[in-house]
Amino acid sequence: MYVSSLLFVCLGWGRKRMEMEMSLGGGMEGGAAYLFTLVALVVGFLVYFYAPYWGLRKVPGPPTTPLVGHLPLLAKHGPDVFSILAKTYGPIYRFHMGRQPLIIIADAELCKEVGIKKFKSISNRSLPSPIAGSPLHQKGLFFTRDSRWSAMRNTIISLYQPSHLASLIPTMQSYIESATRNLSKAEAEDVTFSDLSLKLATDVIGQAAFGVDFGLSKEGSPDKPNKDDEVSAFIKEHIYSTTSLKMDLSGSFSIILGLLIPILQEPFRQLLRRIPGTADRKIDQTNLRLSSRVNKIVAKRACEKQRGSKDFLSAILNARESDRASSDLFTSDYIGALTYEHLLAGSATTSFTLSSILYLVSQHPEVEKKLLQEIDAFGPHDLIPTAEDLQHKFPYLDQVVKEAMRLYIVSPLVARETSQKVEVGGYVLPKGTWVWLALGVLAKDHKNFPEPHVFRPERFDPACDEEKRRHPYAHIPFGIGPRACIGQKFSLQEIKLSVIHLYRKYVFRHSPQMESPLEFQYGIVLNFKHGVKLQVIKRSIT
Ligand code: HEM
Repeated sequence: MYVSSLLFVCLGWGRKRMEMEMSLGGGMEGGAAYLFTLVALVVGFLVYFYAPYWGLRKVPGPPTTPLVGHLPLLAKHGPDVFSILAKTYGPIYRFHMGRQPLIIIADAELCKEVGIKKFKSISNRSLPSPIAGSPLHQKGLFFTRDSRWSAMRNTIISLYQPSHLASLIPTMQSYIESATRNLSKAEAEDVTFSDLSLKLATDVIGQAAFGVDFGLSKEGSPDKPNKDDEVSAFIKEHIYSTTSLKMDLSGSFSIILGLLIPILQEPFRQLLRRIPGTADRKIDQTNLRLSSRVNKIVAKRACEKQRGSKDFLSAILNARESDRASSDLFTSDYIGALTYEHLLAGSATTSFTLSSILYLVSQHPEVEKKLLQEIDAFGPHDLIPTAEDLQHKFPYLDQVVKEAMRLYIVSPLVARETSQKVEVGGYVLPKGTWVWLALGVLAKDHKNFPEPHVFRPERFDPACDEEKRRHPYAHIPFGIGPRACIGQKFSLQEIKLSVIHLYRKYVFRHSPQMESPLEFQYGIVLNFKHGVKLQVIKRSIT
């Protein structure tokens, strides 16, 4: 703010002086005025551009390229760049996304310092440029800030109590069973399991968040979702926005500009969203349609007298009606954003993890054997595990899930922003500094995970030395501290139930069409570039 005002002051002052000089009529003076304006412009630009760097100049980091910062390094090495730089510059270093410096935290103890010990000074998330123009995304829990965030989180957290999660088991199980029935037909041919798992996770969270059966994973009706037109149209829009219209860094010109010269992002977004065919317009239109559909679903549910309390939307509406403080907090736009956020946060993440597990287990027969033994030993195949069973009676499955989440971590970077001046790792960070926790670097650090690229679930066995020696915050795929993932237990319950049910009926092998090495797509969350393609083999004891 201060820097951009400076730029405009420089520009204005240069112009005034030029007018003065011209009115004096001197040719030489006119030249000097031009020169002065030019110098003022260059100085203003340099101040604007380097100001964010100045407060952080003592934090180590590689030399930056003007305008683009370290983006060429990101283009060259991909996401491995953060591990490579940590080796050279240590556990805390500077990385410039265009003009915006990030402080990268690549050490478990420092993550604890940022995420827990200094939480009061670093409690919010920085707002990435793709989200900047979308209230639907900004008003969820993820990007709300300070007291509004804590008040919202305190209310919502009650919906994640163990008793509520346990009550969701029959619903989860019925979706898992119906999705698995799709596989019986696939025995003769290969199946893109990642597509099926996305439909399953969307159905489960659709029921848990909206109380609506989207019907995506039902046998034989993958393309005929819910009969309710509004809900159907909403799902189509949602799937389009998360698959075809990737709101990632390559999304639009204004987003890229926002990285380089943030003050130009909003004016350009406003301009480009009016021009047909631009990515900005497509994103804007999709956001508008999604918001309006979510608002209609919320408004309709708000009018229902007998809405129950099992799903997230109904529970929040009930809280709003029964309590004054909640009614101020949960206005319709916030409720819509929170509910939609659940769908967004809970579908791609859970589905990616489930697909990773199947991909990895299919490649490791010794892991598959131990997993099958544990699943079979639990009891007859129609005995559905309770929430308690899932937590205590499947220790090897627990290790398999942890190891898959370590190897293919859904969110390799987790964002924070300082709300006041604070010291981290021996460096003073000014207010407004973007601090990003590099969970992906921690997960591949051989100090904590010897042979980090090997899939070995046993490394998480509580009895093994590696597990005992490891830093307690070395493996944090759900984040850390009061801002950690609210859906952790929900998704682990769903993932474990799914794996148990799938492996009671089938084992899987990679399809010959599965690429090797595996290719990823880096969007809002990590995803498989070409999907996980598997052969489905029916087990003889079912
Ligand atoms: C495998 C599944 C999942 C993974 C790996 C995952 C990962 C994460 C991570 C890394 C964060 C950021 C934590 C931090 O900043 O410290 C997060 C936040 C969040 N997640 Fe998840 N998540 C998953 C599933 C879910 C589900 C199922 C839901 C909803 C039901 C959900 C809702 C949220 C929300 C609302 C936040 C923001 C919390 C806040 O700011 O207070 N996530 N998640």
